[in-house]
Amino acid sequence: MNSELQMQLWSSLPVPAILLDAEERIADMNPAAEGFLNNSAKWLVGQPIWDRLAVDAPLEESLARARLHGTPLFVNDVDVGTGNRPPLVCNLQIAPVQGYPGWFIMLISPRELAGRMTQSHSVKSAAKSAIGMAEMLAHEIKNPLAGISGAAQLLSMSLTKDDLELTDLIVAETRRIVKLLEQVEQFGNLSAPEKKPVNIHDVLDRARRSTQLGVGGHMKFIEDFDPSLPATYGDPDQLLQVVLNLLKNAAEAADPQSGGVIRLRTFYEHSFRTRRADGTAQRLPLQVEVIDDGPGLPDDIRGDVFDPFVSGKENGTGLGLALVSKIISDHDGWISVDSVPGRTVFRISLPRAPRETEENR
Ligand SMILES: Nc1ncnc2c1ncn2[C@@H]1O[C@H](COP(=O)(O)OP(=O)(O)OP(=O)(O)O)[C@@H](O)[C@H]1O
Ligand SMILES: [Mg+2]
Repeated sequence: MNSELQMQLWSSLPVPAILLDAEERIADMNPAAEGFLNNSAKWLVGQPIWDRLAVDAPLEESLARARLHGTPLFVNDVDVGTGNRPPLVCNLQIAPVQGYPGWFIMLISPRELAGRMTQSHSVKSAAKSAIGMAEMLAHEIKNPLAGISGAAQLLSMSLTKDDLELTDLIVAETRRIVKLLEQVEQFGNLSAPEKKPVNIHDVLDRARRSTQLGVGGHMKFIEDFDPSLPATYGDPDQLLQVVLNLLKNAAEAADPQSGGVIRLRTFYEHSFRTRRADGTAQRLPLQVEVIDDGPGLPDDIRGDVFDPFVSGKENGTGLGLALVSKIISDHDGWISVDSVPGRTVFRISLPRAPRETEENR
């Protein structure tokens, strides 16, 4: 087999494959592994593998034994984390490389997806697979994308400086699509809220602190809370996601240099209600507002900002508010926006926790 064909084989392998040297550092990896680690081989080669991959199993001893006897090692159903997303249950196959003492090749097969594919005919998973379609598609697109970006990187090695710009563009754009797909996957991963009584001020505080450390470092925050506000009934993690997305938008709308002011306001509005699909009224007395003093919603999209893929930003995915709207609707709540230049108000209206749940809090 010639070396070009070997190279192609390596790139075409549909599972992440990583070559490890005798010090357990990354010696090479295929494009699927780049996708799995969401980073390029250029960056990762030379790094200790266990800095990049967290495997929830005591591997050291078995690896040492495999190295001593030159035998392969199979580890099934372990959690493998990469730091960019929740760990995936995977099967690992680790085999010594002939002619290179101490070297291994490691194949990683994520089990969750494999399991879902093989079960897709069973009745139980039919409903589940409908919810997971977008998520599965996103996952499936990520592998060929890793191939495209890997191929562009290989190409770039033999190019002139001018042409390098083009391969850099391919790499940058594929990375942007991966980011988008990850957000689509987040949608797919959204499960029904696990509801309990939640103090919305705790959620607002956590979101504010995290935004201040990240995208909102240039913003001033004002908290205008009604301390007597009763608990709402919801999933604290999902509600946190909602507030984070609103704060991120408010911070991104402000001038990056001079910043701006974000006001977080809560109050009780006894009479606020919406009509459910069955015609009965739903009381939503808890009001949470995120108010910023930025330029306001762009005119051309102001009616559609809650729809997926609607964005006024060059690099926006347009999924932030779609996710917000989905979560709020899963909480039987209501979201509205009122925006003029200098004052944009996103208001979330939520139900009160039922009395019996609040008492045994
Ligand atoms: N506080 C705000 N001030 C001005 N415009 C806003 C504000 N919030 C949202 N928008 C507009 O609504 C669009 C949609 O917002 P959304 O959060 O859904 O997507 P995005 O921010 O573009 O991308 P993503 O959130 O996925 O990174 C934004 O691109 C922006 O144009
Ligand atoms: Mg956004």
